[in-house]
Formats: sequence, C-alpha cells, structure tokens
Amino acid sequence: GRVRKYTFNVAMKNTTRLCSSKPIVTVNGMFPGPTLYAREDDTVLVRVTNGVKYNVTIHWHGVRQLRTGWADGPAYITQCPIQPGQSYVYNFTITGQRGTLLWHAHILWLRATLHGAIVILPKRGVPYPFPKPHKEVVVVLGEWWKSDTEAVINQAIKSGLAPNVSDAHTINGHPGAISNCPSQGGFTLPVESGKTYMLRIINAALNEELFFKIAGHQLTIVEVDATYVKPFKTNTIVIAPGQTTNALVSADQSSGKYLVAASPFMDSPIAVDNMTATATLHYSGTLAATSTTLTKTPPQNATAVANNFINSLRSLNSKTYPAQVPLTVDHNLLFTVGLGINPCPSCKAGNGSRVVASMNNVTFVMPTTAILQAHFFNISGVFTSDFPGNPPTIFNYTGSPPSNLQTMSGTKVYQLRYNSTVQLVLQDTGIIAPENHPIHLHGFNFFAVGKGLGNYNPKVDQKNFNLVDPVERNTIGVPSGGWVAIRFRADNPGVWFMHCHLEIHTTWGLKMAFLVDNGKGPNESLLPPPSDLPKC
Ligand code: C2O
Repeated sequence: GRVRKYTFNVAMKNTTRLCSSKPIVTVNGMFPGPTLYAREDDTVLVRVTNGVKYNVTIHWHGVRQLRTGWADGPAYITQCPIQPGQSYVYNFTITGQRGTLLWHAHILWLRATLHGAIVILPKRGVPYPFPKPHKEVVVVLGEWWKSDTEAVINQAIKSGLAPNVSDAHTINGHPGAISNCPSQGGFTLPVESGKTYMLRIINAALNEELFFKIAGHQLTIVEVDATYVKPFKTNTIVIAPGQTTNALVSADQSSGKYLVAASPFMDSPIAVDNMTATATLHYSGTLAATSTTLTKTPPQNATAVANNFINSLRSLNSKTYPAQVPLTVDHNLLFTVGLGINPCPSCKAGNGSRVVASMNNVTFVMPTTAILQAHFFNISGVFTSDFPGNPPTIFNYTGSPPSNLQTMSGTKVYQLRYNSTVQLVLQDTGIIAPENHPIHLHGFNFFAVGKGLGNYNPKVDQKNFNLVDPVERNTIGVPSGGWVAIRFRADNPGVWFMHCHLEIHTTWGLKMAFLVDNGKGPNESLLPPPSDLPKC
C-alpha cells in the first residue's frame, strides 16, 4: 500500500445553525470534519495539532489497529491527551478492512463537533462484491446543541441528572428546514435518473440512535461497520451512534425532489426530542420550484421497524469474504450493562443521588495515566485486572427492576490471552430507561451470534446461535430488556476499550477495557510507542 498523509488542525470556528451562532471545536474549520480516504493496505499518518483550550485525542473508530494500539485514540486508555499547542502523529496501517468507518474525538464531549468519515477503498483492482455505483456519497448524521456542549455535560455531571437533549439532528452538518428556523438550507444530493449511488451513512450523533429513509426510494444494504453483508432491500435503516451502513440507492424515478429524513429511535423517556433532520435527493434537470415528495418517519418507539432491519443483517460469507466465526470458546463471559443510582451528597438537584452506569456493577473510573502505557512500561497503581467475567450479583431482568442498583467504582480491566476466543453476552438490565445500548469494542470486529429478550439462558439460547453467517461489526445495540451474544478472537495485543456509544452513558461509567497480553513471537507483540506519544 501507499502512505497517506493528513494534517488535522484542531481549531475553534464560529458556526451558524438553527439561526444562531456559536464557536465550535473543528478539524480544519469544517463541520463535519474532512473525510479521510485510504485503500486497504495503506499506511495512514495523521498529524493532529491541538489549537484549542481543551485536551484532544482522535479515535479511528473501527480501524483494527493491529499491534498499533498507540494510535487508537481513547484518552487515558491508549494514550495521554494531546495538550493545547501540542501535536501527535497517528500512524497506522489498514489491514484486512475496506468500507466506511468514522473518526472522532475521544475525550470529554468533543465528539459532538469533532468527527468525520473514513472511506477505505478496496485494494487497487479489487471490485466490490456488488455492481459498481455511479457515485459514492458520504452521509454523516449528527446532533446540534445551541449551547456549548462542554457546558451541557459539565452541568449534568454537577447535578447528577441527565443532560439537556440536543436542539436538532443533522445530515452532513445541517438540520434542514425545520420549524424553529425554516430559512436554513439542508444538504442536497444531486442524482441522475437511471444511475445508482452508494450512500456511506455514518451515525456520529452523541446520544441518539436514528432512523434514516428517502421518500420514494428503496435502499439496498451492502455493508455495515466496514464488513460486507448479504444485500437486502429496505425502506428504512436504523443506525446507532458509532455504526456505519453502506446503502445503494437507484435513482429510479424520472424527476423531482425527494425528502431524505433522519429521526430518533428509542429516546429515553426524559428526552422528548423528536426532531427530524432533512435533506433532499434532487434529480438533475428538475426545476428548483418542484415541490418535494415527503416521507413519513417511523415513530420514536417503532421497535418492530428497527428489529426488522437489524434481524436482516447477515455476513456476506462468500468464498472471498468468509465469515470467520470462532467455533470454540476460551473465555465465556457475561456482562450486564445498564444504569444505576449511587449516593451523591453534593448533588442537590438529584436529591443526594446521581445516575451512574456500569458493566457488571463496575462504574469505570478514568485513570490519570494511559492504561496501555502503564501496561507496556509496568507502571503499577494505574489499573487492576479484576474486572468480573460474570455479574457479581444475580439479576433477574424481567418483571420488576432488580434491587441492586448500586455499583462499585474502579479502573478494572479483563485480561484475555493473546489469540484466545471470546464469547461475550451483553445483558441489558433495563433499570431506568428503555434504551438500546450501542456497545462498541475497540481493536476488533466481532460476530453477533445471538440475540433475545429477557434473561439470557445459556442452556437454551446457545443452541440457537448463528455460527454460519452472523453479521460482523464493531458496534452492536444491546436491546432494551434483552441481550446479545458476540464472539471474537483476541488476536490484537494491547488495551482495548469497550463502552456504550451513547456519550452520556460513557460519561456515567458504562465502559471497561480488555487487556490482551503480548505473546512471545514478533507478530504477536505490540509495537513500541512512537517517540511523540503525548505524556500525562
Ligand atoms: Cu467511536 Cu470508543 O468510540
């Protein structure tokens, strides 16, 4: 592969949305940020220079980072942040992957405006396993707050309560014409009748799972999270923060304008935000005055619509792209994921308690030195290796909420043997809010082998696992009041974060890390850290 060099200057930029302006944190002054293009096997060098007052890190979400954990990006997990005025070069090679991913800030709530697309093309001369589209278009979905997002989260942390919801959703940075600012324009996707387009759809929103659809057009899904799937047609896609979906759309109408809509799925009851972001699919040669064909978005609680999409996803599992599902299991793990309540005497608004989130009753505490550095240089006192492989207290997830909402705090990792196979059941505890938890695992793709409602029952449920062509991804929705089972091979030495990609849940502690220990051979070991790796 070749070497691709990028310069990311992190800088404030005054930006107007919803008829009001505010300074936002950007890369190179753009919102969404620049698209990073590469081919499979290319080496990517991104020089990130921090020109803002916040500490910054960038994560290349879904890039496997084989042996290059130093370039992964989550603050205090794999690196110390880049301090104001400092630079760091992220240096990684894209191995065995092609498709759409995203990059985003991985510290504080800077991801709100610090994000963009990663487009990985196949190796030169290697075709897609579907007809080549006429054009490809990146579609980044997001959220917009009128107020400063760091102020929003700081206020929530202080009070112990949920943060304010966003004021709008966005498509390629624009809400489209909505009632509280009808004059603003939205994103336009120009098409020619008879041609096929590939949309590279990315959900970069902080806290919102979204529906996406286009009036009068079906979507053919060909890829999710940079893995090919068996193509299928759908009217509506559902996409959680951190997930990506490639969809083919045939411009099979003759003319006119068609509404493109992104609307929320499964808000928590506290969040009453039901704003739909809009864009326009516009047939060329059509006069600007043509009225737009509208579409009805699913209601916020349209679980059946979402499940219909999710349950249709299967790995392509072709000769060229086989699904390499681990058939044996070395580590058999069950993690509960959910929200709880902890005492907080200083939280006046929360009546002396605060919302916390946890996995297996552990609320993760961010260390002040990066765990990967502590591991590599044998620095003690940064983390402990006693993250429980099973829930410490037995829950019953059906019926009334379990009584053990209390969590313990700690910087705990779960250690995996290099190249061992892992089965992990993620069980939602559904305690407070009926939300899906989109759980993202760094450093790996995993196969989603099973899914169900209520309590996971190993004796019964394991028999029904799909070990043939389960969808392969890096971010999976744990259904509200249910569970998903994933499998992966721990073939990447390093420290790998796993967390809910709803940013507020990460803030509240719904996160943990796997430590995959270095093997002995040269291919099994983590590379040494780059000389410009930031220090804490
Ligand atoms: Cu896209 Cu750890 O995040």
